Amino acid sequence: MSDQIHIVEMGPRDGLQNEKTPVSVEARIAFVEALVAAGLNTVEVGAFVSPKAIPQMASSDAVLRGVSHVKGAEFHVLVPNEKGYDAARAAGAKVVSVFAAASEGFSRANINCSVAESIERFKPVLARAKADGVKVRGYVSCVLGCPFDGEIKPKAVADLAVRLWDLGCYEISLGDTIGVGTPLKAREMLRAVGAELPVANLAMHFHDTYGQALANLYAGMEEGVRVIDAAAGGLGGCPYAPGATGNVATEDVVYMLEGMGVKTGIDMDRLLATTNEVAGLLGRPPVSRVASALNAKRKRLGGS
Ligand code: HMG
Ligand code: MG
Repeated sequence: MSDQIHIVEMGPRDGLQNEKTPVSVEARIAFVEALVAAGLNTVEVGAFVSPKAIPQMASSDAVLRGVSHVKGAEFHVLVPNEKGYDAARAAGAKVVSVFAAASEGFSRANINCSVAESIERFKPVLARAKADGVKVRGYVSCVLGCPFDGEIKPKAVADLAVRLWDLGCYEISLGDTIGVGTPLKAREMLRAVGAELPVANLAMHFHDTYGQALANLYAGMEEGVRVIDAAAGGLGGCPYAPGATGNVATEDVVYMLEGMGVKTGIDMDRLLATTNEVAGLLGRPPVSRVASALNAKRKRLGGS
């Protein structure tokens, strides 16, 4: 448990993709810069998807170009197909993420194709990325439940994770897209995937809709998973996952880990300032418990 945990910051992508308030390219760049300054060295900064589907992620090319001067960090972007890959590469992407779903219902709603068709779309992306020396991360959505198809069998998750791994993804991020999972189910799912793939190459991407994400992460850490996706302020959600709220909040994860003696290298004061800054842009306080608690404490102590 005391090994280093790697946090992949989702705020600028998963976080902002579902927000109604438009956020300028300049503010998105500043958000990424502040996250890196707080110690988050891997940040998903945008998505090369249809701007008709996700207008919030339009101009992800400008965001990626705008953060290219930032040293010591790795920037990820989503690509659903070759068109997205072309645009991501033109903007300088060195790491891209493809995303598939363990359920047909969500695949259809999110990317307008079946799971098998999505794999066909990814094949040329993975082949070109290999030739270009670009790393590809693979997501599996709906690993603990689907808003359309209901319960998902761990084997369906493991089978898809293996497909993505065999195509050449270096890491498989397992998404509880609608945040319905509970710890024993999360453990069962992670054991099923871990029986097929190296646990070191798995990541947990848990949305916190039902407040279970930290408990589920702890269960996964007990299984040896060491990569956690999280979003500053608990921002986010997927427009195609009805009712789902944001990712587990980065500050909640950092507080839990540091309390367990796991060094994260993340500066909580800077992270909180960043979370508050973005909450200000969106016009509402952060939803995360740790941000609320620390902000209230500061107020009591007379800080800003
Ligand atoms: P489609 O309609 O099947 O694609 O959409 P198409 O090839 O028929 O093209 C339709 C239109 O989209 C065309 O434009 C294309 O040019 C354009 P039009 O002729 O109508 O003007 N298009 C694109 N534009 C920009 N970039 C592209 C691109 N591809 C086609 N790459 C598509 C398929 C995937 C594009 C579409 O359904 C889409 O963009 N969906 C959005 C999916 C998305 O971003 N979802 C949220 C992120 S996933 C998520 O949040 C889950 C995750 O966090 C993990 C978890 O929590 O589980 C990762
Ligand atoms: Mg997500």
